[in-house]
This record gives sequence, C-alpha cells and structure tokens, in this order.
Amino acid sequence: MPFDSTHPRDGLNDPEIADTLSRLHRDARRDRWVFARALPSIALGFLRGRSVFESAEPFLSDAYIPVSPELGRLMYQVARAAKARNIVEFGSSFGISAIYLAAAARENGGRFTGTEMLPHKFRIAESNLVSAGLKRWADIREGDALESLEPLDGPVDFVFLDGWKEMYIPILHLLEPKLADGAIIFADNIHSFRKTLKPFVDYVCDPRNSYETTVVPIGSGVSISTWREQSKEKPDCRY
Ligand SMILES: C[S@@+](CC[C@H](N)C(=O)[O-])C[C@H]1O[C@@H](n2cnc3c(N)ncnc32)[C@H](O)[C@@H]1O
Repeated sequence: MPFDSTHPRDGLNDPEIADTLSRLHRDARRDRWVFARALPSIALGFLRGRSVFESAEPFLSDAYIPVSPELGRLMYQVARAAKARNIVEFGSSFGISAIYLAAAARENGGRFTGTEMLPHKFRIAESNLVSAGLKRWADIREGDALESLEPLDGPVDFVFLDGWKEMYIPILHLLEPKLADGAIIFADNIHSFRKTLKPFVDYVCDPRNSYETTVVPIGSGVSISTWREQSKEKPDCRY
C-alpha cells in the first residue's frame, strides 16, 4: 500500500488515539490475574532459575503484556524524530504498542506493520487500530512473524522486538537485509529475560555486527540499537 503523508500532525493527543490507549492500558491491568493464576508455575520456575515471564509464558494467551505508556511514548517520539516511515513490530498482542508506532508512522507519512500469531489477539489488535483511527496507516500480519515478515518490503526504518524472546535473533536476521542505514531497533524485556536474551544482547553489542547499542533501565530493560551498515567506525555498546 502506498505511503500517505496527508494526515494532520496531532500526535498522541488525537482524541481517538488518547481514548483508545487509555481504555487499553486500563484493561491491561487485568494481566495481574493472569499472573496470579500462573503463580505456582512461577514459584517452581524460580527454584529452577527461570524469570517470572518465562514461567508464566504458557498462561499468557489472554494477557496484554503491553509496553508501559512511558516506553510507548519514547518509541513514538524517537520514531517521529528519526522520521521513520517504515515501522515494523514483532509481537503486537492486543495492539497497545502498535497504536504508538502507527501514530508515528501516520505523522511521518509512512506505514506500520505489526505481527501477531494468536488469531483472537490479531483480530482485537486490528479493531483497536480502527478505534484509534489508525487503520489506514497500519496493518497487523496474522501468523508466525518469521513467515509473515518474509515478503515485507524495505527499507525498514524502525523495528520493535517484543514477541517471544528466543525469536529476537531470527527475526532480526530476517529483517537485516531490509534495514535502512541508521535504522533503529528497540527490544523489550532485556532484564526480565536476562538469560534468554543474553545471545541477543551479545549479538547487537558485537562490534562485527554493525550495531550501536545501549540498554536502558526502562520497565524490564530495553535495548536501543542503531544499524550502521556502512559504518567504518567501531560500533559501541553500553549495558
Ligand atoms: C509481550 S506481547 C506483545 C505486547 C505488545 N507489543 C504491546 O506492547 O502491546 C508478545 C506477543 O507476541 C506474540 N508472538 C510471540 N511470538 C510470535 C511470533 N513468532 N510471531 C508473531 N507473534 C508472536 C505473542 O502471541 C504475544 O501476543
């Protein structure tokens, strides 16, 4: 679908966006009951050295597990400032982060592409984009992102990784040939999945892999990387 740069720039204060986000962040508080049901498994996981999220994973099909409003706003602002037009998300759930990123795509005259493998979450995420008035600038692709993102056109300017953690590296590898020079990659849960995500953090911090990366202590830890395909400088990593 062609890019569309005709929309006025009213940002996250657009009433449809603000109302939808506030309803969804409120609904997402119900996640605590999902985690309560998962408690025995979390306790057992703790004894085996697993994180809360890792142990609760089998219970999460009805959970939002969304970004915080702070992380959503940060990604929105960074995507806006970077003028990112082709914005891609791995793991959209019910569409909260999708709304922040689709709003940035709309204002940058671009498009947002989300992904969600669970059919009921996919349908609700799509309808939440409609409620936010963003559907014209955004699509969620149903199914495994490794397949649904394969035909995606580049160059990709901004990526948010938030699906299951062992897939961050395969998804990044899939997207690398499509990344624009200077593309920005946000990845969530770096601290809450410290062990599972260590290979990912090592990868984006390895000077041979063309990223500059910082891990920041927002929520459960977020890595922010910049892809420098042509860079002659040694990329840097701080975490
Ligand atoms: C942490 S939630 C995403 C939350 C969302 N980014 C937000 O802030 O609202 C992770 C989601 O990724 C989805 N997911 C995990 N692996 C996936 C895959 N391989 N392809 C597509 N979706 C996937 C899960 O079903 C789940 O809904």
